[in-house]
Amino acid sequence: MSDKALINQLFQTIDDYTRNDQKKEGTPVVDFKTPDELQQLMDFTVKDEGISHIKFNELMQQYLQYSVRTGNKQFMNQLYGGFNLPAFIGEVLTILANTSMYTYEVAPVATMIEREMISLMNSYTGYSQGDGVFLTGGSNANLVAMFSARNRKIPASRFDGIDRSKHLTAFVSEHAHYSFENAANMLGIGAHNVIKIPVDGHGHMIPDELDRAINFSLQKGETPFFVGATCATTVLGAFDPLDELAEICSKHDIWLHADGAFGGSLVLSPETKHLFRGIEKTDSFGWNPHKLMNIPLVASVLLVKQKGTLHFNLTDINTDYIFHNNNDVEDLGKKSIQCGRRVDAVKLWFAWKYYGKKGYAKRMENLLNMARYAEEKVKDHSRLELLAPRQSLTVCFRYKPGYKTDLNDFNFRLREQLRKSGKSIVNVAWLDDTLTIRLIMANAETQKDDVDRFFENLLVCAGELENTLSRQIIAESV
Ligand SMILES: Cc1ncc(COP(=O)(O)O)c(C=O)c1O
Repeated sequence: MSDKALINQLFQTIDDYTRNDQKKEGTPVVDFKTPDELQQLMDFTVKDEGISHIKFNELMQQYLQYSVRTGNKQFMNQLYGGFNLPAFIGEVLTILANTSMYTYEVAPVATMIEREMISLMNSYTGYSQGDGVFLTGGSNANLVAMFSARNRKIPASRFDGIDRSKHLTAFVSEHAHYSFENAANMLGIGAHNVIKIPVDGHGHMIPDELDRAINFSLQKGETPFFVGATCATTVLGAFDPLDELAEICSKHDIWLHADGAFGGSLVLSPETKHLFRGIEKTDSFGWNPHKLMNIPLVASVLLVKQKGTLHFNLTDINTDYIFHNNNDVEDLGKKSIQCGRRVDAVKLWFAWKYYGKKGYAKRMENLLNMARYAEEKVKDHSRLELLAPRQSLTVCFRYKPGYKTDLNDFNFRLREQLRKSGKSIVNVAWLDDTLTIRLIMANAETQKDDVDRFFENLLVCAGELENTLSRQIIAESV
């Protein structure tokens, strides 16, 4: 097989995969294999000699065969999913050109595109003097936000390191993403100095509790410097009240960051914009288009309210072997903690151009409608129990069999059985001591019949499991 034949094979594979594997009804979301089975099926070792094109082609097919089809509409397991054709094309072009975001010199078109994307995204946050940068994910956005807050509070820490006598403290809700603790760890602040603020029955950070915790920290002689609000918490999909938190932060001169890694894209629809009331008062906003905008991983942005913030973070941006200051447009590498950086803005730009602002608003509205529909399906079924009021795009529920049993154990097994059947994949999480099935609506092309199919698959599995377990109980009792 020649190089040309291999490329043709690749095109054929893409065509088959996108038309059949991902989209055709009944295609399993995963052809599940155990690690031992995979080891038997595929040769993972690298040998001294390279492989033939034919073998190479076989590996391409096997890779796709046994990987999870996250573009399949029965993939409801993670906060991302779907297959976005224009973004896919953008990704392919990005890889073909294989340029790097540090300078205009090496990435002229991509630089203009990233500038445009940052400016467009800031039009939704209301940061009129804003700036921003693409980075490697929402965790990284939380890190750079906390880094910016630390540097605003104690600029000398950039050069002298952390002054432990200042005892910096950060505040997030008890439902916030774990990356905040890692960020504090990396920045020399310490994970224990991220204080968890209680949430109300809907999973929203309680402003009075935040104010109390900040005052307590001040009384102890500490330096509160950062509040991380969340715009769609990972498990419940709850939105913290930015407006009220902003008032508290402004009173105490504390940086307010909004982590919109999951829910940030809902800012695109007038129907859901109210969830972000007060967003323009925050100091920074993290937003992952690779989640609800269905851009292939990774597409993630940190927006900051004040231009100059990102440059100020960096202690040496004049490295003359790379930045030659030889053009009119600023090199974007001077705003990033990375040197070589993937061109993630391009796939987002292609997708946004293709769907338009209105198209994306509609996609967000569809997500919300499908999450509402799934919630209604739970409420309408006597064996399903809604475990928390739906806040946005996640529906937390469990199955209750017709006999008394450990519901956590039953629902854990149910999810595993469904996942391994390859029919649908849905996640689980803990709400205190209760295990919840967590359906996540992230693929904006989901329709009602996809949701119906999901519940059919789940209920068939639940019925089978219920029968098997009840037979076991009877067998054990005789
Ligand atoms: C609220 C929230 N913040 C941050 C992250 C981390 O984002 P990433 O996976 O892009 O690092 C997630 C991931 O799911 C999240 O739900």
